[in-house]
Amino acid sequence: MRKINLDLTDKSYDIKIGNNIIDLSTVEKFVSNKEVLIVFDSAISGSRIMQFKEMISKSILKLELIEIDANENNKSQETLSEIYSILVENKFSRDCLIIGMGGGIVCDIAGFSAATYQRGVNFLLIPTTLLAQVDASVGGKTAINHPKGKNMIGAFHQPVGVIADISFLKTLPEREISCGLSEMIKHGLINDINYFCWLEENIKQVLRLEPEAIEEAISRSIEIKTFFVKEDEKEANIRALLNFGHTFGHAIELIGEFKDYNHGEAVAIGMILALELSERIGNISKQDCIRVRELLDKAKIDTKIKNPINSTDLYKGMMGDKKKRGNTLNLVVLEDLGKAKVSNEIDESLILEILNSSL
Ligand SMILES: NC(=O)c1ccc[n+]([C@@H]2O[C@H](COP(=O)([O-])OP(=O)(O)OC[C@H]3O[C@@H](n4cnc5c(N)ncnc54)[C@H](O)[C@@H]3O)[C@@H](O)[C@H]2O)c1
Repeated sequence: MRKINLDLTDKSYDIKIGNNIIDLSTVEKFVSNKEVLIVFDSAISGSRIMQFKEMISKSILKLELIEIDANENNKSQETLSEIYSILVENKFSRDCLIIGMGGGIVCDIAGFSAATYQRGVNFLLIPTTLLAQVDASVGGKTAINHPKGKNMIGAFHQPVGVIADISFLKTLPEREISCGLSEMIKHGLINDINYFCWLEENIKQVLRLEPEAIEEAISRSIEIKTFFVKEDEKEANIRALLNFGHTFGHAIELIGEFKDYNHGEAVAIGMILALELSERIGNISKQDCIRVRELLDKAKIDTKIKNPINSTDLYKGMMGDKKKRGNTLNLVVLEDLGKAKVSNEIDESLILEILNSSL
């Protein structure tokens, strides 16, 4: 089992990574003598939930469960209200523990309910998709969607721990593995050319979930993510680089009504647009763009546009982005492969030109 510590000013927690690592020794210290609510993804097998429930039942005071059908429409105020109702009706105190066991949607909802119930209670994350293991479970961003914008209502609230057990990935459809790889390729692109090259060499083994390769890839991605979070927990500056491709990507998800594209796919399309932009402003070469596209293809990420997208509509969607300052879009561009920066000097006309030529 590997362990990466995320040491922040007023909180420090471990992210554990390994195969079949969920046992009493990894969870007891979090659940012991607690009222526990497990928010779990309906894709997790009933037997796995039962096993977990039985394992912790002797150490805890009270247990409630809620199953979430993970889709972006359910990352909503309605789902949140259901969680609050369980907590209130069962008289959960401020000392309770919420466990989020699922993909990024479940991690985000469980985290946001923990951030807001009685002004903040503890939560533990057991991410079960690759994307959630390398990204959504790490760093304390929690949120729900508003019908008109993704992740519009949220809070920074750090978990007490994260357990990334790769055995969950066995049941994950290949499309979802590829979505996780989209964020992992992003990690290499913005911060670590050596990791990007490593992914180029090992992509087949990672896609096949070969234990050594997948564990190494997850760990390297988490190390990059924790580096940014340690430096800038509340995203005042450098953490924003993790949004590479996301301003485009979130607008694409919105236009596709959260049905046409999975998050990782929208991010991959967003990265292609951001690479194009980086090339047009002279930071990277055409050959660099081709190299990244080849890796996205090898990772089997579907970057096709499903329904025609009007570039003006997409631009409007981008202007709704949280990262905007006043009327200026803060876009992350590459300075080179492995190095990114935020730019607020990109003309609307250039963005529209890129959207028109690429969509
Ligand atoms: N908080 C953050 O820092 C952060 C970072 C990145 C993404 N996110 C959010 O995460 C979400 C995307 O997460 P995601 O890609 O994990 O998607 P997801 O949560 O929608 O999960 C994808 C699918 O996989 C299923 N699933 C989950 N675990 C499974 C398993 N072990 N086996 C089989 N199926 C399984 C889910 O039911 C769902 O159908 C988005 O809402 C995004 O905004 C948050």
